[in-house]
Amino acid sequence: MKRPSAALLVFFVAAVFMAFFNLYCSTPQPKEEVKRSVWLNLHDSVKYVGIQTCRGCHADIYNTYIHTGMGSSIDLASREKSAASFSSHDLVYDKHSDFYYKPYWKGDKMMIMEFRLKGADTVHKREEEVKYIVGSGQHTNSHMMEVNGYIYQLPLTWYAQQGKWDLPPGYENGNNTRFSRIIGVECMSCHNALPEFEDGSQNKYKRVPAGIDCERCHGPGELHLLERGAGRGADIRSDTDFTIVNPAKLSWELQVDVCQRCHLQGNAVLKQGKTFFDFKPGMKLNSVLDVFMPKYKGGEKEFIMASHAERLQMSECFLANKPGKHSGGGDRQLTCITCHNPHVSVEVTGKETFNNACRSCHDGGNDCTADINLRKAVNDNCSQCHMPKSGTIDIPHVTVTDHFIRKPAKDTDKKVLKEFLGLSAINNKNPDALTRTEAYLSYFEKFNQDRMFLDSAGSYFLGAGPLMPEQMIIPRIRYYYLKGNYDSLIAAVPGGYLEVATDDWTCYRIGQALQYKGQFRDALEMYNHDAEEWYKKAYLLSPSNLDFKIKYGEIRLENGQTDEAIKLFREVVESNPKYTPALTDLGFALLKKGDVVNANQWYDKALKLDPDYEPALMNKAGLYLSLHDKDKAREMLYRVIKRNPMNRKAKNLLESLND
Ligand code: HEC
Ligand code: HEC
Ligand code: HEC
Ligand code: HEC
Ligand code: HEC
Ligand code: HEC
Ligand code: HEC
Repeated sequence: MKRPSAALLVFFVAAVFMAFFNLYCSTPQPKEEVKRSVWLNLHDSVKYVGIQTCRGCHADIYNTYIHTGMGSSIDLASREKSAASFSSHDLVYDKHSDFYYKPYWKGDKMMIMEFRLKGADTVHKREEEVKYIVGSGQHTNSHMMEVNGYIYQLPLTWYAQQGKWDLPPGYENGNNTRFSRIIGVECMSCHNALPEFEDGSQNKYKRVPAGIDCERCHGPGELHLLERGAGRGADIRSDTDFTIVNPAKLSWELQVDVCQRCHLQGNAVLKQGKTFFDFKPGMKLNSVLDVFMPKYKGGEKEFIMASHAERLQMSECFLANKPGKHSGGGDRQLTCITCHNPHVSVEVTGKETFNNACRSCHDGGNDCTADINLRKAVNDNCSQCHMPKSGTIDIPHVTVTDHFIRKPAKDTDKKVLKEFLGLSAINNKNPDALTRTEAYLSYFEKFNQDRMFLDSAGSYFLGAGPLMPEQMIIPRIRYYYLKGNYDSLIAAVPGGYLEVATDDWTCYRIGQALQYKGQFRDALEMYNHDAEEWYKKAYLLSPSNLDFKIKYGEIRLENGQTDEAIKLFREVVESNPKYTPALTDLGFALLKKGDVVNANQWYDKALKLDPDYEPALMNKAGLYLSLHDKDKAREMLYRVIKRNPMNRKAKNLLESLND
């Protein structure tokens, strides 16, 4: 390996130069170590330049790449981008929520309409423009809308393999969240090039790129561009260009990390202080995040869609990498790029490319012990038998390739009783105790509300006093919060913490605990005052988070500061006029001031967006009661109970009205 040319170093300010200088002058390190640290574009000062810049010099690669699933993973909605079919019959009915959904074009705009029928009458209609389409269409097209930069998923997906429209994954069986599922950075950063994100918001973007770009696998390109633009740089056949990462020149572990940054979807736990923007090719993934999956005894057959990396690493072909053990592969470690050229879609890659990879390690195919006639019947397509396609447990109506390479499973293996073994980090053999704890907490919060996950997390805090470093206070408060144990939560907040706290969600959770406690104590005012302080802090830490702002407004309203609350609600409504909680709160605050007319208008706006929104219906019932219009109040309450028979408050109110 050669040092980077002297010319290159001219690009660096002295401090950076010294850092690298030290590195090159230090005593020889093991091969792996050197490789890990020499990539010059991993330095924070090197910027991303975008796919069109790379295209300028690598047009051949660009031209095939742009047609892959990754190259076309997201784009503005257009007829060219959409893989879906549109006909007047396309209609999806969700019987749980009693809504119909219809996709259609209005000129060049793709639209999704939600409506409800009562007999022949349309009693509700909401139309939203599709701003972005997610998914190349190899499997699906999902759809997103945008309100002043806030991005939400729309409740309709095109399933390409079956050629049909249906609710998106996760919206089935009464879980239709309609227009409110936020598209956060975690989601966006796996399905796209890195976006420009409004820090502290949950889903607000300043810029959304069009598809996964070159730099997601090669790292920031600014330095490479400057070097190559000046006609300098290594001959890559005999040498390495250290201004840009070529994954093929990484150790196999780091190679797999490049792909499993995205092809390993699960319960991702960020390291303290890290964000989903921090991983760059050439880094260890577990320096930024660990991805945990539940492990079950006998559960090997089931897998989720984005789990290629996990499945592959369960295979003997991957595990048995010791030199001399291979029948043909030498000490070659199996990674994704043994079989895939990510610049060319699998759709246009011949089966032989994959099978030749198998043969190269398996004595030309002679290792296979199956009946040769059976093999011939399928043209000896190794992957067809050893990597069968099947459905996934998370995304309906799609089939993907099982990357757990093994002897074909027999049908008798199918129904095995599953026993939960624990959460394990796929990309880290030995995650630290704190990360493990966070994994159990977030698994409980996001995936499975079985108390056993909380108990596993809790064992970590037992016996620890309230005075802990902040990095432990945060998960501890989250733990009590998820347990609903607000007394212990409040006891765990160290004195003076309000001034030094840096984590917005922790402040929010403390606020919630205090507010909740206030409801059951005489000292309501005191608790509410404290709650206000914490909500304020959460809001100040992340002003773009609409929920924090609303909570802060709500508590100020409770504490009698109606005008201030109205101001906050108005701000939220301005930044996102389709946010029903803010519309409803604004109505409520105006009603407090006696402004019945405007209050009613805001409630109606909320109900036009969501005819079943309970707070708006309840508030409207209250408004009618204040006007002594019992019939209209009843009508509102009936609407609440029709959708949610469990609403006790509505039931009691209705009973008292009927007396
Ligand atoms: C000004 C022209 C130019 C631009 C712009 C450019 N490259 Fe290159 N790149 C080159 C040349 C020349 C080589 C060496 C090619 C060779 O020797 O065959 C190279 C080599 C590479 C290599 C191989 C490095 C190695 O050591 O194996 C990668 C990877 C690469 N470029 C990626 C990119 C990416 C990603 C972008 C956009 C961020 C980009 N390039 C933009 C000119 C350019
Ligand atoms: C930034 C996230 C990201 C990274 C990094 C990434 N992938 Fe992907 N990959 C995706 C997504 C998302 C899709 C599905 C795109 C779609 O069809 O909409 C995909 C699709 C694919 C496909 C099927 C698409 C096709 O047309 O062939 C292959 C193969 C693939 N990835 C291989 C890899 C390999 C190998 C690596 C590592 C070198 C890698 N990916 C790195 C996110 C990523
Ligand atoms: C860790 C990275 C990761 C995260 C986070 C992630 N996905 Fe994916 N997702 C993928 C990859 C990779 C694939 C493609 C798998 C394939 O092609 O076999 C995929 C596939 C999909 C698909 C199916 C079909 C398709 O066309 O390829 C949908 C729909 C989808 N993702 C939506 C989402 C949404 C919405 C979110 C956020 C709520 C999300 N994903 C979060 C990596 C991720
Ligand atoms: C999903 C990950 C991924 C994306 C996205 C990606 N590459 Fe690559 N690229 C690789 C891998 C892996 C290799 C090594 C391939 C090998 O040698 O087997 C590579 C190799 C290269 C090389 C070295 C020469 C060669 O042909 O092997 C160049 C140049 C390059 N990529 C440019 C680009 C450009 C330009 C783009 C965007 C248009 C791009 N890459 C997008 C993963 C990716
Ligand atoms: C990089 C080398 C390599 C590649 C590529 C590779 N394998 Fe393997 N595979 C191995 C090694 C090593 C083993 C362990 C057994 C051995 O030594 O043969 C193995 C084991 C297996 C087994 C037995 C698994 C078990 O559970 O007993 C099967 C089946 C298999 N491979 C099929 C395939 C198929 C099909 C492909 C292509 C899709 C493939 N392999 C690609 C190296 C490889
Ligand atoms: C031993 C060969 C082999 C290796 C290694 C391998 N794949 Fe694949 N992959 C395949 C085959 C075969 C297909 C199916 C191709 C087809 O449909 O014709 C495939 C398909 C895919 C697809 C398309 C969607 C699907 O599931 O059908 C994605 C995405 C993908 N692979 C990602 C990866 C990633 C990420 C890695 C590394 C973690 C990887 N692959 C490693 C052989 C391999
Ligand atoms: C028609 C389906 C089919 C095809 C095609 C096929 N295999 Fe197999 N393979 C099997 C079955 C079934 C077994 C297990 C047979 C047994 O139980 O001994 C097996 C066993 C194996 C094993 C494990 C042998 C051992 O030591 O236990 C390897 C390795 C393997 N196949 C590799 C390949 C490769 C490489 C190809 C392509 C060149 C291939 N197979 C094509 C069905 C197939």
